[in-house]
Amino acid sequence: MSAFRLSKTEDEFALTGEEQAQPLELEAYTPEEPENMDSFQVELFLPETNPEQPAASPQIEFEGMPVPRYQVSLDDGRNVYFQHAHTLLESLEAQGVEPQYQCREGYCGSCRVQLIDGEVYYYEEPMAWVNNNEILTCCCIPKSDLKIKL
Ligand code: FES
Repeated sequence: MSAFRLSKTEDEFALTGEEQAQPLELEAYTPEEPENMDSFQVELFLPETNPEQPAASPQIEFEGMPVPRYQVSLDDGRNVYFQHAHTLLESLEAQGVEPQYQCREGYCGSCRVQLIDGEVYYYEEPMAWVNNNEILTCCCIPKSDLKIKL
């Protein structure tokens, strides 16, 4: 993990760090206006590498399953590939897709997408309700090529 420092100057926020591992888009929210906005700072902890383009890291493997490497087709015509990420959500984000999410642990259902074709494996049983044709991207990985609707 790399630590970056976010600081506010005038009307803008600035992100600084020793190195920037990947392009970053940032939104910041504060529950209340801090008393002294000039000294408002927060540290962000970001993964050092893109999970879909790791530097010599081993692929995740689940017992009895082949190493995942699947095409994920989106309803808008884009195609991405699941290879090294720990979840489908992480893989989509690493490739520029911006799916909805909140808890990232299978509780809230915010990451629910429609599964048009394919099969997924839940490495943890999700708590959120999903219909038969829906999946939670935060706690599953593909078992086949997928076609999904965000
Ligand atoms: S982000 Fe909450 S269930 Fe996936």
